[in-house]
Amino acid sequence: MITLTDIAYVRSGVADLDAAVRFATGIVGLELAAPTEIGVAHLRADHRHHCLALVEGPSGVIASGFSVADAGALAAAETELERAGITVRRGSAQEARSRRVREFIAFDDPFGNRLELVSQQEIITRPVAFTRPAGITEFGHLCLDAPDVYEAHRFWSTRFNARVSDWIGDAACLLRIDPVHHKLAVFKADKPGLCHMNFQVASIDDVFRNWHFLVDHGVQIEMGPGRHPQSTAIFLYFLGPEGFTYEYSFGVRRIEDDAAWIPRTFDPEEIGSIDMWLGPVKRVSSQAQLQPKKVGVPAS
Ligand SMILES: [Fe+2]
Repeated sequence: MITLTDIAYVRSGVADLDAAVRFATGIVGLELAAPTEIGVAHLRADHRHHCLALVEGPSGVIASGFSVADAGALAAAETELERAGITVRRGSAQEARSRRVREFIAFDDPFGNRLELVSQQEIITRPVAFTRPAGITEFGHLCLDAPDVYEAHRFWSTRFNARVSDWIGDAACLLRIDPVHHKLAVFKADKPGLCHMNFQVASIDDVFRNWHFLVDHGVQIEMGPGRHPQSTAIFLYFLGPEGFTYEYSFGVRRIEDDAAWIPRTFDPEEIGSIDMWLGPVKRVSSQAQLQPKKVGVPAS
């Protein structure tokens, strides 16, 4: 059993780096870290050095990163995954530097989503210099696509410490790795990809202020504002460049008594099962998983 201590980052390939950075800063509000590499932009939202890296190149999600406790835990995870027959690759020192981690390993989930486990992700203590006052407090969660969410649950709950918090029928599995209702979710889709990346905001006012800001700036709202009955979070999904869906949300449920929580099942066809406020619901756009050029070698 591999213990994930937190989500770490999303790494996404973009054909137009300037446009993607303009959106991530000027619209989403993230801080652009001082550039240290040609063709890579690091975006910051909280104590992490970055939680989103935009990499110039083919469009598509490169990898989703998760933290483990330390180098020992990473080595143990590597052994455990290899014993399970999963092809694991150690990142080079240069790749680790680009991720602002000491070490990392890369492998695919059973559906082709590229995952990375990292040790010692760098943190920064100075306050985030947000580009605009969106009210972001932290990188909240990431959602992956898979054709079978029950199979995905089996993967995450047997190899890792993820527990299901709630099911949305066979459409989604919401998973926690700490008291937050979900830091990871898997949504049903034919192909691997990143369904969305979430940023928590400080208040309901931020959600609605952001909604007006996005509409005023011609950003495509995918869903919301609304409220998810599972996590109780007030959500707003919107589309960024190159098919990358962002989400702001506020008020996610915390499950403090882990042992007492019984996962619930919601029928996605039932009115109000996605949005308690009964707004229009849709499956948000996903960014497809970028296929590595060679088997076992992650793109940048
Ligand atoms: Fe979400």
